[in-house]
Amino acid sequence: MKKVFPAFVVLMILVLLYAVAVKWFTDPDVAMVLDRDRLRTDSLGFGMDFLWGASTSAYQVEGNCTNCNWSQFETSLDPHGHPRIAHGQKCGLASDHWNRYKEDIQLLKELHLNAFRFSVEWSKVEPEEGVFADSVLDHYERVVDELHVNGIEPLITLHHFTNPIWFERKGGFERDDSPAILARFATRVVQRLGSKVRFWSTINEPNVYAVEGYVRATFPPAKHDPAEAIIVFRNLLRAHTACYQAIKKIRPEAQVGLLANIFLFDPPERWNLLDVMLAHYLNTALSVSVIDYLTTGVFDFSLPGMGREHFDTGVPEAFDFVGLNYYSRLVYRFDPFTEEKMVAVQHLRREDLTDKGWEIYPEGLYRALHMISSRTPKPIYITENGIADDSDLRRAGFIEDHLLVTNRALHDGMNVKGYFYWSLLDNFEWTDGFDVRFGLYAVDYATQKRTLRKGSVKYREIIMQSDKWLH
Ligand code: FCB
Repeated sequence: MKKVFPAFVVLMILVLLYAVAVKWFTDPDVAMVLDRDRLRTDSLGFGMDFLWGASTSAYQVEGNCTNCNWSQFETSLDPHGHPRIAHGQKCGLASDHWNRYKEDIQLLKELHLNAFRFSVEWSKVEPEEGVFADSVLDHYERVVDELHVNGIEPLITLHHFTNPIWFERKGGFERDDSPAILARFATRVVQRLGSKVRFWSTINEPNVYAVEGYVRATFPPAKHDPAEAIIVFRNLLRAHTACYQAIKKIRPEAQVGLLANIFLFDPPERWNLLDVMLAHYLNTALSVSVIDYLTTGVFDFSLPGMGREHFDTGVPEAFDFVGLNYYSRLVYRFDPFTEEKMVAVQHLRREDLTDKGWEIYPEGLYRALHMISSRTPKPIYITENGIADDSDLRRAGFIEDHLLVTNRALHDGMNVKGYFYWSLLDNFEWTDGFDVRFGLYAVDYATQKRTLRKGSVKYREIIMQSDKWLH
């Protein structure tokens, strides 16, 4: 009896310590369930100045982006001799948005949208280092003018994954001077369009660019080099700050933000400390670090097995808004026997996933908004959220649920100022090529005919309901 008692106490203490550690590493929002029926009874709180938009990116829709790293990548082979893009597809004319932008702007109007996010293709604007093509800037100015004539607010992205070949050859964002090189380009674009464009986003998803290009090797330059990935991640964030400063110098009134992809990581079991810690480290390193960088100017990155980095730009608060790209979450289990030390766990049936293989998880949007809002009171624009759904059976429900969640976040005091569905059109979805269909409008690539998907009508209905509610 005498021996059993201390052993029992020690055991209880260990159990307690374990529970405290699990709680410490667990995201408090992880178990959130939002009741759709209750959300439907919330009054609509989107406000008069809410931006209702759709997003695109140049390479994915414009066509003829033949001078960038992706045009090279799509013709190259992986080390096993396979094409980089599904079935060896090439982007080519894409959705021919370059020529059809007027028609496409009418598509925005048809859905009662008042905002459009698009990117300017760096490789077209600066085809050779330091040489700027005025005719290309003329084109983007015509797009901006056409948007204004139709009462639609432009939000321009300066860098959306693609680099000019000359920049890629020099080493792209591996270079320490890459922020200055991108800022020179930003300066030229803003000198030209700044009087007509209020909203600028500097860089799309630094974390995705770094991980896909330097860890998973699914984006150019297709390297497996985690240490380089961290440097590239850091340089992209530095490039954001350099662009922010360059834009503000020309147009102090401009609203400038960075586009953060927040793909949540969750543990399969909430009692398993290793899984919970894994999720914590992934979320902190890949998502929270970006928001903390914006507010503090310090890039603090640490991911066991990948590396560490601490870099202080000395420039906190170099942003006017946060752009949030939210799609889904990933569930990972710690596994010491695999090379990556983790494995993805699929907890849903295949038929419940989107065509991209992603879970539909609207609560995650609330959680991402909450994570940002707890770090900054500045406005948040949801700059991407959408579903790859060729059958179109789930698009309406997806849009409604994510907007209901956004509405809830507004009621809870979060400063959400806009929502941009990804994407206006079906487009070239990077390594999936034309296989997956995110568009509010379907594109028949043989004829370039655009057709409104039935599920997208839900978006217009909610916008109109909100407008009515406000008047
Ligand atoms: C985002 C990208 C965008 C598109 C969507 C589906 O990560 O920014 O270009 O590919 O995913």
